[in-house]
Amino acid sequence: MSASEITAAVAHLEQGGLVVMPTETVYGLAANAADDEAVARIFAAKQRPAFDPLIVHVADADAAWKRAFDTPVARRLAAAFWPGPLTLVLQRRPGCVSDLVTSGMETVGLRCPDHPLALELLRRSGLGLAAPSANIFGRTSPTTAAHVGEQFAAYGALLMDGGSCRVGLESTVVAVQHEQVVILRPGGISREQLHAVLGHEPELASRDTRAQHLPAPAPGMLASHYAPSKPLRLRAPGQAWPRGSQWGYCAFTGADLPDGATVQEVLSPHGDPIQAASRLFAALRQLDAAPIAQICAELVPDQGLGLAINDRLRRAAGMG
Ligand code: TXA
Ligand code: MG
Repeated sequence: MSASEITAAVAHLEQGGLVVMPTETVYGLAANAADDEAVARIFAAKQRPAFDPLIVHVADADAAWKRAFDTPVARRLAAAFWPGPLTLVLQRRPGCVSDLVTSGMETVGLRCPDHPLALELLRRSGLGLAAPSANIFGRTSPTTAAHVGEQFAAYGALLMDGGSCRVGLESTVVAVQHEQVVILRPGGISREQLHAVLGHEPELASRDTRAQHLPAPAPGMLASHYAPSKPLRLRAPGQAWPRGSQWGYCAFTGADLPDGATVQEVLSPHGDPIQAASRLFAALRQLDAAPIAQICAELVPDQGLGLAINDRLRRAAGMG
């Protein structure tokens, strides 16, 4: 992107406009987090229920502590993982972000994204940018600019092309409360990585614990989410293949095309969960566009980013 395109995007944000912003996880639909009207436009464009809070993206940790109260653990996590795919849910400071962003809650989710274009927008505008994934509510998150396409053009969104997203699935969302860390959504930073920094294994929230942190059942937390338009079923190793023809397989390491499958997408031939995560949403989109009636997907080992991959697969299958 040219310097003048970036200048135009900064001006557009300052005037309350929407920008489709590349990040290292997925593309986000960004707006000034302090501008109620701009934030409302995000909800309208995404057709997203207003009870779901948005993540506020910031240029660095200091910009985060201006919007939320820091704690020693929050500082440690930010120092270890920012810029990067970790969202910290902290007690918000009054008046810094729109109530629509936080759904009126006392907490706010903050993260510093690891993408040069996103960081440039944040630094040059000095804004906090509220940005959910740039997809219509409940659909697969976009990992290229082409996935987003013209979907939000009617809402005046500027599309910034930052190439394909390195991580490929969303940030890990953790709540930090009284120095306790709870994983609300597994994502690009693994539980093992958090463990290494914290010195203990953080709790993985159950559905009930997650609900306590939210005003109402929220997307990304709903059972059916990230869904392709075709039916998706999951298959554990050793289980039977789908009956009938016209189905496609989303395999982890893959080998031969399974019996009866028309088409296969392999997430990582060498079984690398990081590569698999980066390809997951693009693979589901390929299969969704293929001439098949249903998709079957293989669960991956639960280690490292495998936890987040399986979480997204279960939700896409409506089994979250
Ligand atoms: O990687 C990502 O996190 C991407 C990119 C664009 O940064 N963003 C993203 O946003 O995935 P979204 O809106 O699709 O998902 C945000 C998740 C939601 O499940 C929401 O409930 C949770 O974060 N969240 C945000 N603020 C929260 C808060 N104050 N308390 C609890 N959960 C929160
Ligand atoms: Mg999303």
